[in-house]
Amino acid sequence: MSKSVFKPNKEFAKTARIKNMCEYQALQEEAMEDYEGFWGRYAKEKLDWIEPFNEVMDESNFPFVKWFKDGKLNVAEQCIDRHLKTRKNKAAIIFEGDRGDKQIITYLELYYNVNRFANLLKKEFGVKKGDRVVIYMPMIPEAAYAMLACARIGAIHSIVFGGFSAEALRDRIEDADAKVVITADGAYRKDKPYMLKPVVDQALEGGSPVNKVLVVERNDEDITWVAGRDYSYNELIKSQEVHCEPEVMDSEDPLFLLYTSGSTGKPKGVQHNSAGYILWAQMTMEWVFDVKENDTYWCTADVGWITGHTYIVYGPLAMGATTVIFEGVPTYPDAGRPWKMVEEYKINQFYTAPTAIRVLHKMGEDEPAKYDLSSLKVLGTVGEPIDPPAWKWYYEEVGSSKCAIVDTYWQTETGGHIVSPLPGATPIKPACATLPLPGIMGEILDPVTGERVETGETGYMCVTRPWPSMIRGVWGDEERFVKSYFGDVKKNGKPIYFTGDGAVYDEDGYITITGRTDDVINVSGHRMGTAEIEAAIKKHPNVAEVAVVGKPHELKGEGIFAYVVLKSDDGVADEVEEVKAINNVIKKEIGNIALCDDIVFAPGLPKTRSGKIMRRILRSIAKGEAITQDISTLEDPSIVEKIENMVKSK
Ligand code: WTA
Repeated sequence: MSKSVFKPNKEFAKTARIKNMCEYQALQEEAMEDYEGFWGRYAKEKLDWIEPFNEVMDESNFPFVKWFKDGKLNVAEQCIDRHLKTRKNKAAIIFEGDRGDKQIITYLELYYNVNRFANLLKKEFGVKKGDRVVIYMPMIPEAAYAMLACARIGAIHSIVFGGFSAEALRDRIEDADAKVVITADGAYRKDKPYMLKPVVDQALEGGSPVNKVLVVERNDEDITWVAGRDYSYNELIKSQEVHCEPEVMDSEDPLFLLYTSGSTGKPKGVQHNSAGYILWAQMTMEWVFDVKENDTYWCTADVGWITGHTYIVYGPLAMGATTVIFEGVPTYPDAGRPWKMVEEYKINQFYTAPTAIRVLHKMGEDEPAKYDLSSLKVLGTVGEPIDPPAWKWYYEEVGSSKCAIVDTYWQTETGGHIVSPLPGATPIKPACATLPLPGIMGEILDPVTGERVETGETGYMCVTRPWPSMIRGVWGDEERFVKSYFGDVKKNGKPIYFTGDGAVYDEDGYITITGRTDDVINVSGHRMGTAEIEAAIKKHPNVAEVAVVGKPHELKGEGIFAYVVLKSDDGVADEVEEVKAINNVIKKEIGNIALCDDIVFAPGLPKTRSGKIMRRILRSIAKGEAITQDISTLEDPSIVEKIENMVKSK
């Protein structure tokens, strides 16, 4: 089925960095013909090197690939120092608090703030190059300072999203063997204070590798201070010097870890290194958002996710842009908040998740019309497929049918966008990520033959050559890195990077992502492993077995559906209580973001004779679809009908 096509705005295209499809194709061809020449050219042009690199790419030990070998640089310098010559008084960060409080931080102020922070970590806490620092922070400027301070002294940060529970935080601290946690007392949400420090306290209870906790006092609520371990940022920062020599880092020195869900119960610490990551963060900022010198750019993600890393902090600052940090929620005090902010700050590029668009559409369909949104040029979406009605509203009501919508497809592991429209060049289609970006050899392949799939046939979304911002490793687990990403698809007999997503080409060769092929689900744009949720539910003493699947959800994209088999045979005494108890375990083990939308107490699970749970059947039942699979090979085929009836009667 052919979709409507929307051509780029002609006026916009005139000054865009990539102005038309010919320019796009020329770049893509340049990369195909001389891959290393292409990347080497950009690495020299875009980054300021302390010492130049000797080799663009070394893939002799694939998939352990090295980019810009022997080059030396510092990522914090890329994001701050080099802008001081021409942009010292330009706003680097515009902060809006939940309660409407505002701060504008210039590049010079950012330089001072980050250097003070870096000195604090180095001199007061003894943090050294290579040490891991966990950041568990609200959306306040200090979260960005903390990241950049780590980068300045060569420490590896690992941000844990503030919605994760103490247990989840503990696991991540332990896996990374972090010595320091940076947190805040809490922050504000919907005009009320909420707390983070007590969660850190709980995560460190009973022994931990962490010996220092730095607390930014944001909401001044009462917290407990552990003497000798907990320190006030607000106090210590006062006496720090405003200059801190940046650590000389190798291109391949790690920049950060970010834990993400996979197909097992244990999240993986995705590792990104310095030069390749920052290069692609900057290039995609320039190409995909086409931010100009005087523009104001706003990405609504949380720094706890990769989008916050690459497109709130590193990408915008690397290119010297003005980036907005917002503490609050988009629907408070009403669903006009983002549009009010667009008007107030004259935002030029706005980047958010389809879930937010669906919620804003549902709760405030007419809100955009109340504000002057004429500054907007590019609208972005990320994290999950966007549905055509939400796309249409975003395009027409928010963008007045004149802004490009960039449906950016990428992952924690890819570091930056890999498939996305270019706003001045690519004719767009609703809910379609369109084409691989120049330099990215993205292809949809048949998992068995490794050949490119035909139009309309679903295949596996792969990248057939390593690229600079590609994941460098899974922290502490080489084997898992190789197996998770390079085990499933081979092209010409050689293993290549597989994203875990299915995708399909349309008649124009455009790519539409069809969703995960593994047991990862996407809830409100948050990536969750069903195995992780199952592992949490199994901690409930009365649970014998559990299977979690995703189910389409009107607002969240996907909801969490759990089939639970209880240990006691006498059925469920009080279903409401039992559901509450299970959700409490999830809350404790993972956090509120993983609470189930549906829980069904099943008499058993559909399993093969070898004991494998047939999740496909459970997915179909959750969706209310007819079962088309052959169930005769199941250990107990009658279980399917029993579960179906239970779900129907719910
Ligand atoms: C999904 C978020 C459809 C996909 C940046 C991917 C998308 C996972 C899109 C990564 C998109 C991301 N259209 N699906 N534009 N962008 N996804 O690691 O399934 O949190 O594998 O990174 O989100 O989620 P992650």
